[in-house]
Amino acid sequence: MKKTRRIEKNAEIVNRHLFSKLKGNPKKLYDAAGHLIIHGGKRLRPFMVIQSCQILNGKTSDAMPAASAVEMIHNFTLVHDDIMDNDEMRHGVPTVHKKFGVPIAILAGDVLFSKAYQTITDSKLSPDTTARLVSRMARACVDVCEGQLLDVKMAEEKRMPSQEDYVTMIGKKTAALFDVSCAMGAICATNKTKDISNLSSFGRNLGIAFQITDDLIGVMGDSKITKKPVGNDLREGKKSLPILMAIRAAKGREKETILKAFGNPGISRRDLDKAVGIVRSLGIEESVRRQALKYASKAEKSLSTYAGSAKDDLIALLDFVVRRSV
Ligand code: IPE
Ligand code: IPE
Ligand code: MG
Ligand code: MG
Repeated sequence: MKKTRRIEKNAEIVNRHLFSKLKGNPKKLYDAAGHLIIHGGKRLRPFMVIQSCQILNGKTSDAMPAASAVEMIHNFTLVHDDIMDNDEMRHGVPTVHKKFGVPIAILAGDVLFSKAYQTITDSKLSPDTTARLVSRMARACVDVCEGQLLDVKMAEEKRMPSQEDYVTMIGKKTAALFDVSCAMGAICATNKTKDISNLSSFGRNLGIAFQITDDLIGVMGDSKITKKPVGNDLREGKKSLPILMAIRAAKGREKETILKAFGNPGISRRDLDKAVGIVRSLGIEESVRRQALKYASKAEKSLSTYAGSAKDDLIALLDFVVRRSV
Protein backbone atom coordinates (compact mmCIF):
# COMPACT_ATOMS: atom_id res chain seq x y z
CA MET A 1 0.00 0.00 0.00
CA LYS A 2 1.30 3.49 -0.84
CA LYS A 3 2.65 5.46 2.11
CA THR A 4 0.14 8.30 2.10
CA ARG A 5 -2.63 5.71 1.69
CA ARG A 6 -1.35 3.89 4.79
CA ILE A 7 -1.41 7.12 6.79
CA GLU A 8 -4.99 7.71 5.61
CA LYS A 9 -6.07 4.17 6.49
CA ASN A 10 -4.56 4.61 9.95
CA ALA A 11 -6.32 7.99 10.25
CA GLU A 12 -9.71 6.32 9.65
CA ILE A 13 -9.14 3.92 12.56
CA VAL A 14 -7.93 6.72 14.84
CA ASN A 15 -10.87 8.96 13.84
CA ARG A 16 -13.40 6.42 15.04
CA HIS A 17 -11.76 6.23 18.46
CA LEU A 18 -11.17 9.99 18.60
CA PHE A 19 -14.71 11.05 17.69
CA SER A 20 -16.22 8.66 20.25
CA LYS A 21 -14.35 10.61 22.96
CA LEU A 22 -15.31 14.09 21.75
CA LYS A 23 -19.01 14.14 22.58
CA GLY A 24 -20.82 16.01 25.30
CA ASN A 25 -22.81 19.04 26.37
CA PRO A 26 -23.00 21.95 25.76
CA LYS A 27 -22.83 20.77 22.13
CA LYS A 28 -21.25 24.02 20.98
CA LEU A 29 -18.14 23.37 23.07
CA TYR A 30 -17.65 19.96 21.44
CA ASP A 31 -18.45 21.33 17.97
CA ALA A 32 -15.68 23.87 18.52
CA ALA A 33 -13.30 21.21 19.88
CA GLY A 34 -13.93 18.93 16.88
CA HIS A 35 -14.02 21.70 14.25
CA LEU A 36 -10.46 21.35 12.90
CA ILE A 37 -10.41 17.58 13.37
CA ILE A 38 -13.57 17.13 11.28
CA HIS A 39 -12.25 19.34 8.49
CA GLY A 40 -8.88 17.68 7.97
CA GLY A 41 -5.49 16.99 9.47
CA LYS A 42 -3.01 14.30 8.58
CA ARG A 43 -3.03 12.44 11.93
CA LEU A 44 0.75 12.06 11.71
CA ARG A 45 1.25 11.87 15.47
CA PRO A 46 -1.24 9.00 16.08
CA PHE A 47 0.39 7.16 13.17
CA MET A 48 3.71 7.50 14.97
CA VAL A 49 2.25 6.27 18.27
CA ILE A 50 0.86 3.16 16.62
CA GLN A 51 3.93 2.34 14.50
CA SER A 52 6.25 2.91 17.48
CA CYS A 53 4.21 0.40 19.45
CA GLN A 54 4.23 -2.09 16.57
CA ILE A 55 7.97 -1.82 15.89
CA LEU A 56 8.43 -3.22 19.44
CA ASN A 57 5.81 -5.94 18.84
CA GLY A 58 3.10 -4.19 20.87
CA LYS A 59 -0.64 -4.33 20.10
CA THR A 60 -2.40 -1.53 18.14
CA SER A 61 -5.34 -1.63 20.56
CA ASP A 62 -2.98 -0.84 23.46
CA ALA A 63 -1.61 2.18 21.59
CA MET A 64 -5.01 3.58 20.59
CA PRO A 65 -5.74 5.68 23.74
CA ALA A 66 -2.32 7.37 23.49
CA ALA A 67 -2.82 7.85 19.72
CA SER A 68 -6.14 9.65 20.24
CA ALA A 69 -4.77 11.58 23.21
CA VAL A 70 -1.81 12.98 21.31
CA GLU A 71 -4.08 14.10 18.47
CA MET A 72 -6.27 15.91 21.02
CA ILE A 73 -3.22 17.62 22.50
CA HIS A 74 -2.06 18.53 18.99
CA ASN A 75 -5.46 20.08 18.22
CA PHE A 76 -5.50 21.91 21.54
CA THR A 77 -2.19 23.52 20.54
CA LEU A 78 -3.53 24.38 17.05
CA VAL A 79 -6.62 26.12 18.42
CA HIS A 80 -4.62 28.24 20.85
CA ASP A 81 -1.81 28.78 18.31
CA ASP A 82 -4.22 30.25 15.76
CA ILE A 83 -5.38 32.80 18.35
CA MET A 84 -1.75 33.67 19.15
CA ASP A 85 -0.74 33.88 15.47
CA ASN A 86 -3.83 35.81 14.31
CA ASP A 87 -4.54 33.10 11.74
CA GLU A 88 -7.97 32.97 10.15
CA MET A 89 -7.85 29.80 8.06
CA ARG A 90 -6.76 26.22 8.67
CA HIS A 91 -7.77 23.03 6.88
CA GLY A 92 -9.51 25.30 4.37
CA VAL A 93 -12.06 26.52 6.95
CA PRO A 94 -12.17 29.45 9.40
CA THR A 95 -10.07 28.80 12.51
CA VAL A 96 -11.92 27.95 15.73
CA HIS A 97 -11.73 31.47 17.21
CA LYS A 98 -12.90 32.97 13.89
CA LYS A 99 -15.91 30.65 13.76
CA PHE A 100 -16.85 30.41 17.44
CA GLY A 101 -15.17 33.48 19.00
CA VAL A 102 -12.10 33.65 21.26
CA PRO A 103 -13.75 32.61 24.60
CA ILE A 104 -15.18 29.39 23.13
CA ALA A 105 -11.91 28.69 21.28
CA ILE A 106 -9.94 28.94 24.53
CA LEU A 107 -12.39 26.53 26.17
CA ALA A 108 -12.32 24.19 23.16
CA GLY A 109 -8.54 23.99 23.54
CA ASP A 110 -8.88 23.39 27.28
CA VAL A 111 -11.44 20.62 26.82
CA LEU A 112 -9.22 18.89 24.22
CA PHE A 113 -6.29 19.09 26.65
CA SER A 114 -8.34 17.63 29.51
CA LYS A 115 -9.98 14.90 27.42
CA ALA A 116 -6.55 13.79 26.25
CA TYR A 117 -5.57 12.91 29.82
CA GLN A 118 -8.97 11.36 30.51
CA THR A 119 -8.61 9.16 27.42
CA ILE A 120 -5.40 7.69 28.82
CA THR A 121 -6.52 7.35 32.44
CA ASP A 122 -9.86 5.73 31.41
CA SER A 123 -8.07 3.12 29.26
CA LYS A 124 -7.55 -0.49 30.29
CA LEU A 125 -3.76 -0.17 30.42
CA SER A 126 -1.96 -1.13 33.64
CA PRO A 127 -1.68 1.57 36.35
CA ASP A 128 2.09 1.61 35.80
CA THR A 129 1.86 2.13 32.02
CA THR A 130 -0.86 4.76 32.53
CA ALA A 131 1.30 6.69 34.99
CA ARG A 132 4.29 6.59 32.65
CA LEU A 133 2.18 7.83 29.72
CA VAL A 134 0.63 10.65 31.74
CA SER A 135 3.97 11.78 33.11
CA ARG A 136 5.57 11.79 29.67
CA MET A 137 2.67 13.62 28.04
CA ALA A 138 2.60 16.28 30.78
CA ARG A 139 6.30 16.93 30.22
CA ALA A 140 5.74 17.31 26.48
CA CYS A 141 2.89 19.79 27.07
CA VAL A 142 5.15 21.90 29.29
CA ASP A 143 7.76 21.88 26.49
CA VAL A 144 5.17 22.99 23.93
CA CYS A 145 4.16 25.95 26.14
CA GLU A 146 7.79 26.93 26.65
CA GLY A 147 8.48 26.61 22.91
CA GLN A 148 5.43 28.68 22.00
CA LEU A 149 6.62 31.39 24.38
CA LEU A 150 10.05 31.33 22.72
CA ASP A 151 8.35 31.62 19.31
CA VAL A 152 6.33 34.68 20.42
CA LYS A 153 9.31 36.25 22.20
CA MET A 154 11.58 35.81 19.16
CA ALA A 155 8.99 37.46 16.93
CA GLU A 156 8.77 40.43 19.32
CA GLU A 157 12.50 40.95 19.63
CA LYS A 158 14.51 42.94 17.09
CA ARG A 159 17.44 40.55 17.40
CA MET A 160 17.78 37.83 14.76
CA PRO A 161 18.19 34.45 16.47
CA SER A 162 20.90 31.99 15.51
CA GLN A 163 19.97 28.74 13.80
CA GLU A 164 20.69 27.05 17.13
CA ASP A 165 18.12 29.28 18.91
CA TYR A 166 15.59 28.46 16.19
CA VAL A 167 16.18 24.71 16.57
CA THR A 168 15.80 24.99 20.37
CA MET A 169 12.48 26.78 19.85
CA ILE A 170 11.03 24.30 17.34
CA GLY A 171 12.44 21.41 19.38
CA LYS A 172 10.06 22.46 22.13
CA LYS A 173 7.03 23.84 20.29
CA THR A 174 6.81 21.04 17.70
CA ALA A 175 9.31 18.21 18.12
CA ALA A 176 8.32 17.57 21.75
CA LEU A 177 4.94 16.24 20.58
CA PHE A 178 6.45 14.03 17.87
CA ASP A 179 8.97 12.80 20.43
CA VAL A 180 6.28 11.93 22.96
CA SER A 181 4.13 10.26 20.27
CA CYS A 182 6.91 7.76 19.59
CA ALA A 183 7.87 7.44 23.25
CA MET A 184 4.26 6.72 24.26
CA GLY A 185 3.89 4.14 21.48
CA ALA A 186 7.04 2.45 22.79
CA ILE A 187 5.83 2.61 26.42
CA CYS A 188 2.62 0.80 25.36
CA ALA A 189 4.81 -2.09 24.14
CA THR A 190 7.74 -2.27 26.54
CA ASN A 191 9.47 -0.87 29.60
CA LYS A 192 12.97 -1.18 28.14
CA THR A 193 14.64 2.23 28.52
CA LYS A 194 16.83 1.82 25.42
CA ASP A 195 13.88 1.11 23.10
CA ILE A 196 11.91 4.05 24.52
CA SER A 197 14.86 6.40 24.09
CA ASN A 198 15.53 5.20 20.51
CA LEU A 199 11.92 5.87 19.51
CA SER A 200 11.88 9.15 21.41
CA SER A 201 14.98 10.32 19.54
CA PHE A 202 13.48 9.25 16.21
CA GLY A 203 10.36 11.33 16.94
CA ARG A 204 12.32 14.36 18.10
CA ASN A 205 14.54 14.55 15.01
CA LEU A 206 11.64 13.83 12.68
CA GLY A 207 9.75 16.64 14.43
CA ILE A 208 12.55 19.14 13.83
CA ALA A 209 12.75 18.11 10.16
CA PHE A 210 8.95 18.46 9.99
CA GLN A 211 8.87 22.01 11.37
CA ILE A 212 11.74 23.20 9.15
CA THR A 213 9.83 21.88 6.13
CA ASP A 214 6.55 23.31 7.43
CA ASP A 215 8.16 26.73 7.81
CA LEU A 216 9.39 26.48 4.23
CA ILE A 217 5.92 25.62 3.00
CA GLY A 218 4.52 28.47 5.11
CA VAL A 219 6.38 30.93 2.96
CA MET A 220 6.86 29.09 -0.36
CA GLY A 221 3.83 26.79 -0.50
CA ASP A 222 0.68 27.05 -2.56
CA SER A 223 -2.19 28.07 -0.26
CA LYS A 224 -4.65 26.14 -2.46
CA ILE A 225 -2.81 22.98 -1.47
CA THR A 226 -1.80 23.83 2.10
CA LYS A 227 -5.30 25.17 2.87
CA LYS A 228 -3.78 27.90 5.01
CA PRO A 229 -2.63 31.34 3.88
CA VAL A 230 0.94 31.82 2.71
CA GLY A 231 3.03 34.72 4.05
CA ASN A 232 1.48 34.94 7.52
CA ASP A 233 4.77 34.02 9.21
CA LEU A 234 6.40 36.94 7.42
CA ARG A 235 3.58 39.31 8.40
CA GLU A 236 3.75 38.16 12.03
CA GLY A 237 7.53 38.60 12.15
CA LYS A 238 8.18 34.90 12.81
CA LYS A 239 11.89 34.10 12.90
CA SER A 240 11.60 30.85 11.00
CA LEU A 241 14.66 29.35 9.30
CA PRO A 242 13.56 30.16 5.72
CA ILE A 243 12.72 33.74 6.73
CA LEU A 244 16.08 34.17 8.48
CA MET A 245 17.84 32.77 5.40
CA ALA A 246 15.82 34.98 3.05
CA ILE A 247 16.62 38.15 4.99
CA ARG A 248 20.28 37.20 4.97
CA ALA A 249 20.29 36.44 1.23
CA ALA A 250 18.32 39.47 -0.01
CA LYS A 251 20.03 42.70 -1.06
CA GLY A 252 19.03 46.30 -1.77
CA ARG A 253 15.42 47.03 -2.78
CA GLU A 254 14.43 43.38 -2.46
CA LYS A 255 15.61 43.28 1.13
CA GLU A 256 13.68 46.50 1.84
CA THR A 257 10.49 44.95 0.44
CA ILE A 258 10.88 41.86 2.66
CA LEU A 259 11.65 43.95 5.75
CA LYS A 260 8.64 46.20 5.07
CA ALA A 261 6.36 43.14 5.32
CA PHE A 262 8.26 41.47 8.16
CA GLY A 263 6.41 41.86 11.47
CA ASN A 264 3.95 44.32 9.95
CA PRO A 265 0.36 43.25 10.71
CA GLY A 266 -0.97 46.29 8.81
CA ILE A 267 0.73 45.32 5.52
CA SER A 268 -1.53 45.20 2.43
CA ARG A 269 -2.14 41.83 0.74
CA ARG A 270 -0.43 43.20 -2.37
CA ASP A 271 2.79 44.19 -0.55
CA LEU A 272 2.81 40.90 1.38
CA ASP A 273 2.48 38.94 -1.87
CA LYS A 274 5.31 41.00 -3.35
CA ALA A 275 7.56 40.15 -0.38
CA VAL A 276 6.61 36.45 -0.62
CA GLY A 277 7.44 36.55 -4.35
CA ILE A 278 10.93 37.86 -3.57
CA VAL A 279 11.51 35.23 -0.85
CA ARG A 280 10.56 32.57 -3.43
CA SER A 281 13.02 33.94 -5.96
CA LEU A 282 16.06 33.90 -3.67
CA GLY A 283 16.85 30.21 -4.13
CA ILE A 284 16.89 29.33 -0.42
CA GLU A 285 14.69 26.21 -0.76
CA GLU A 286 17.59 23.85 -1.31
CA SER A 287 19.55 24.98 1.76
CA VAL A 288 16.44 24.83 3.95
CA ARG A 289 15.62 21.33 2.71
CA ARG A 290 19.23 20.31 3.33
CA GLN A 291 18.85 21.29 6.99
CA ALA A 292 15.66 19.23 7.25
CA LEU A 293 17.44 16.25 5.70
CA LYS A 294 20.21 16.54 8.28
CA TYR A 295 17.68 15.91 11.08
CA ALA A 296 15.94 13.22 9.04
CA SER A 297 19.17 11.29 8.78
CA LYS A 298 19.70 11.58 12.56
CA ALA A 299 16.18 10.21 13.01
CA GLU A 300 16.87 7.29 10.70
CA LYS A 301 19.97 6.32 12.69
CA SER A 302 17.86 5.94 15.86
CA LEU A 303 16.03 3.03 14.22
CA SER A 304 19.10 1.24 12.86
CA THR A 305 18.70 -1.76 15.17
CA TYR A 306 15.09 -2.50 14.17
CA ALA A 307 13.51 -4.24 11.19
CA GLY A 308 10.07 -5.07 9.83
CA SER A 309 7.04 -3.36 8.37
CA ALA A 310 6.49 -0.85 11.21
CA LYS A 311 10.08 0.35 10.73
CA ASP A 312 9.47 0.65 6.98
CA ASP A 313 6.35 2.72 7.73
CA LEU A 314 8.21 5.05 10.08
CA ILE A 315 11.04 5.55 7.56
CA ALA A 316 8.52 6.18 4.78
CA LEU A 317 6.82 8.75 7.01
CA LEU A 318 10.17 10.42 7.58
CA ASP A 319 10.62 10.58 3.84
CA PHE A 320 7.14 12.05 3.39
CA VAL A 321 7.82 14.70 6.04
CA VAL A 322 10.96 16.07 4.39
CA ARG A 323 9.74 15.81 0.82
CA ARG A 324 6.22 17.08 1.28
CA SER A 325 4.91 20.23 -0.30
CA VAL A 326 1.70 20.31 1.78
C1 IPE B 1 0.70 21.71 12.13
O1 IPE B 1 0.96 20.36 12.23
C2 IPE B 1 1.34 22.42 13.28
C3 IPE B 1 2.79 22.36 13.28
C4 IPE B 1 3.46 21.75 14.20
C5 IPE B 1 3.52 23.05 12.21
P1 IPE B 1 0.34 19.31 11.18
O2 IPE B 1 0.64 19.74 9.78
O3 IPE B 1 0.76 17.94 11.56
O4 IPE B 1 -1.22 19.48 11.44
P2 IPE B 1 -2.49 18.80 10.76
O5 IPE B 1 -2.05 17.71 9.83
O6 IPE B 1 -3.17 19.93 10.03
O7 IPE B 1 -3.30 18.30 11.91
C1 IPE C 1 3.37 25.04 15.35
O1 IPE C 1 3.06 26.33 15.29
C2 IPE C 1 3.46 24.55 16.79
C3 IPE C 1 2.22 24.51 17.54
C4 IPE C 1 1.03 24.66 17.03
C5 IPE C 1 2.35 24.27 18.96
P1 IPE C 1 3.12 27.20 13.94
O2 IPE C 1 2.43 28.48 14.25
O3 IPE C 1 4.51 27.24 13.43
O4 IPE C 1 2.28 26.31 12.93
P2 IPE C 1 1.16 26.71 11.87
O5 IPE C 1 1.90 27.34 10.71
O6 IPE C 1 0.24 27.68 12.53
O7 IPE C 1 0.50 25.41 11.50
MG1 MG D 1 0.56 29.17 13.74
MG1 MG E 1 2.65 29.62 16.05
